[in-house]
Order: sequence, then structure tokens, then C-alpha cells
Amino acid sequence: MNKIETAKLAEEIVKNKLKDAEKGHDWYHIDRVRNMALEISDTEGGDKEIIEISALLHDISDAKFNGGNYEKAASESREILKNINFNKNKIENVIDIIDNISFKGGISINKVKSLELKIVQDADRLDAIGAIGIARAFHYGGFKNRVIYNPEIKPQNYSNSEEYHKSESHTINHFYEKLLLLKDLMNTKKAQEIAENRHLFMKKFLEQFYNEWKSKK
Ligand code: ADP
Ligand code: NI
Repeated sequence: MNKIETAKLAEEIVKNKLKDAEKGHDWYHIDRVRNMALEISDTEGGDKEIIEISALLHDISDAKFNGGNYEKAASESREILKNINFNKNKIENVIDIIDNISFKGGISINKVKSLELKIVQDADRLDAIGAIGIARAFHYGGFKNRVIYNPEIKPQNYSNSEEYHKSESHTINHFYEKLLLLKDLMNTKKAQEIAENRHLFMKKFLEQFYNEWKSKK
């Protein structure tokens, strides 16, 4: 099997697994992350075979969809990589990316990141900001039946990932708790450049949002 066939097989598995997922994590999210990761790699380098497969698998193996079970997530990815005949020498590189890509409530793990992890993580983070990031945040809020905004509930700093994922906060707070922090967390120069414009767009959005909120009083 050549590289293109391997990626195609991975695509099919991912599309099938995500068909019932919350739609902020649908196939188009995966496809955007894959394309963005490959685009960043054009400038920053890295092994494109590892980058593409990791981007394709990064959310199906997410512990969020496995009842918070990280072990299960990793063993499932290993199984898929075996089934699609992915290059054996690179399996552990892919698992490392899938295991470490998540924001996990912003807790910084002192982890030495491979270039490929840096790139796929940047691509995933870029998809959480800008116009698409805004759309995904409100979609997620709706999925969890959260209020859009409540001026009495201020943003919080979470001390661990469990607290972060359990938070019942309104969606505007999510901008302060995560989305506006992402620009400065980009690993690569190319992603930092792309993030700049998306970040400004979110700030403009918030400014407009508060103006409209006030004007209704
Ligand atoms: P990741 O899988 O990238 O670690 P999440 O699963 O936390 O991140 O987020 C997936 C998408 O849902 C992102 O666009 C993110 O901004 C959005 N999201 C996650 N948590 C919330 C939240 N509490 N409120 C609004 N949107 C959220
Ligand atoms: Ni993702």
C-alpha cells in the first residue's frame, strides 16, 4: 500500500467514527486540520506522512470520546494504524502526537514536542480561533445547552483538566479561558502569523458583542 492509499483508508475510518460526534469535531474539522498542518509543514518542515495521519486521527482517539480513558484512546489508534498498514517505524511518533495534542485545560505539560506534534497541535489550535473558532464555540455551547453569556459569571482559571471539562460556564467565558490564549501558545512561526489575524477578529467580535449587549438596556 502506498502513502496515498494509507491516508485514504484513514479518511474512511475517521469519517465513519465521527459521523455521530458532536459537530464541532466533524469530518470537516479533521479535514481543515489536516490541510492546515500540511500547509504549515510546507514552511516549517517535518515528516508529512506522520503529520497527515496524526491530523486525521487526532480526534477519534480523543479521550473525550472514550469516556476520558487515555489508555483506550491510544490502543485504538494503534489498532487503526496497524489495520491501514501504516509505516511501522513511525507508529510511535503518531501515538505521541495523538496523546499530547489536546489543550487539557491549559495545564502546561513539560513535554519535549516533536516538530510534527508542534505542527499538528498548531493546526488544531488554529481551527479553534477566528471565525470558525467562534462558530465552533457557540455550537459546542449549544450542544451542552449552555447560555451564550451571563455578565455575572466571570472567567476562571482551572487548576486541572477535569475541572476545565466539567465547567458549566457560559460560552463568552470560553474566549477568555481558552480561545484568546491560543495565539501565544502557537509552537511555530507560520502558525503565529496565521493566528494574529484570527485573534484580532475574535477581539472585534467580542467588542461588538458587548456593544450590542449594552445597547439593549
Ligand atoms: P480540543 O479537542 O482541541 O482539545 P475541545 O474539545 O476542548 O478541544 O474543543 C473543541 C471545540 O469546542 C473547540 O472549538 C473549542 O473551542 C470548543 N469548546 C470546548 N470547550 C468549550 C466550552 N466550554 N465552551 C465553548 N466551546 C468550547
Ligand atoms: Ni481537533
